[in-house]
Amino acid sequence: MDRIRIVGGQTLSGSIPISGAKNAALPLMIASLLTPETVILENVPRLSDVRLLMRILGNHGVDASIDGKRAGQSEITGDTIRLSAAGIVDTTAPYELVSKMRASFWVIAPLVARMGQARVSLPGGCAIGTRPVDLLIMALEKLGAVIDIDAGYAVASAPNGLRGGEIVFPKVTVGGTHTALMAAVLARGTTVIENAAREPEVVDLADCLVKMGARIEGAGSERIIVEGVTSLGGARHRVLPDRIETGTYAMAVAMAGGDVTLDGTRAGLLQAALDVLAKTGTQITDTPDGIRVRRDGGRIVPVDVTTEPFPGFPTDLQAQFMALMTRAQGTSRIRETIFENRFMHVQELARLGARIRLDGDLAVVEGVPALKGAPVMATDLRASVSLVIAALAAEGETVVHRVYHLDRGFEQLERKLGACGAMIERLSGEK
Ligand code: EPZ
Repeated sequence: MDRIRIVGGQTLSGSIPISGAKNAALPLMIASLLTPETVILENVPRLSDVRLLMRILGNHGVDASIDGKRAGQSEITGDTIRLSAAGIVDTTAPYELVSKMRASFWVIAPLVARMGQARVSLPGGCAIGTRPVDLLIMALEKLGAVIDIDAGYAVASAPNGLRGGEIVFPKVTVGGTHTALMAAVLARGTTVIENAAREPEVVDLADCLVKMGARIEGAGSERIIVEGVTSLGGARHRVLPDRIETGTYAMAVAMAGGDVTLDGTRAGLLQAALDVLAKTGTQITDTPDGIRVRRDGGRIVPVDVTTEPFPGFPTDLQAQFMALMTRAQGTSRIRETIFENRFMHVQELARLGARIRLDGDLAVVEGVPALKGAPVMATDLRASVSLVIAALAAEGETVVHRVYHLDRGFEQLERKLGACGAMIERLSGEK
């Protein structure tokens, strides 16, 4: 297993290209199951989660290639992926695959919508909380699917096809909204989704589905209306920029100090997080192709934050912001309202000298004058990158272990930060 070694204390300057959003690419790839025609996705990030999903889709019979190469072949360098689900050979998604990536559970929706049946392993536990799928199942049932739980699998059937219905989510769920959308587009009649997730990734999925021939209104609002169609065609779609990667590098610059432009992204995708960063004393300005982030070494002002569904402050930036607050001059309070166990980074940040007290869903972060490098362990994707951010400002050397978590969601992290002056390198193999 690779490790990442960072020597802290360098300011960052230059530019960082922002990749396509992992959390848009995954549902877009899954949506290719809805049509026998080819879906071409551009700006797909080169991440291990994308490669894994190519394998999972391949298991259903999808022919997936990036610049002509299939998963498992030599290194994939392109960012345009072609997915062709001309023939679905298997409607089962086995435990061995689904347990590696929760989002793969979402295949249940296009499979039951197009094939009338699906057998998909329940994803099981996860480091950041229990993360049930009850609301995804509820959504499919509202559209007429019959779902049994059998030996750890959700077995869905709709032999006569799905029919439109009203889905009212009792809480905002991104995966639930993706699932409802992918099912409703091929259901007979009208579906109304209430309390839908408004995340940009939901809008991106809806945009692509519309290009495929779906009839969807209201994506990006709390109420989405879908008129089902009998079949969908192919499409070419560019994945939107990764707002979490954008916010992560913005926080890295706020932490290390410096002047970096983040290219190929948009402030509107993460305005709440940028507003918070501005309050910490970081300067954020729009550029023609992205945003510019500057901090000149002045003090980091503590700011309180509560995670919320979009357009609020994203849970996927909570760990990174906490890393920044460990160096604030004063105390900040960070409340996590989306996942009940998303504070795994706290113990690791403490190893670098951070002072953080946990009280239920609240973390009280008392800024310290200096952090000190140490060996630390990555626990999940966003937690791991928070350790990298902390390490950029820590005295001496930090080695982050288990970086496969990082590789799931950050494309070429060490190259992107290294090009801006960070002392960061990947060490191959286990130590
Ligand atoms: C998506 O997960 C993202 N994953 C997560 O990013 C992100 O943290 C999350 O949305 C919230 O923004 C992908 O897009 C691949 P949810 P998802 O359904 O869809 C509860 C990352 O690091 N809930 O919006 O699984 C759930 O437990 C990942 O990239 C139910 O109770 O999240 C949580 O408390 C981590 N029942 C809340 O809803 C359900 O059936 C929101 O979860 C479904 C969800």
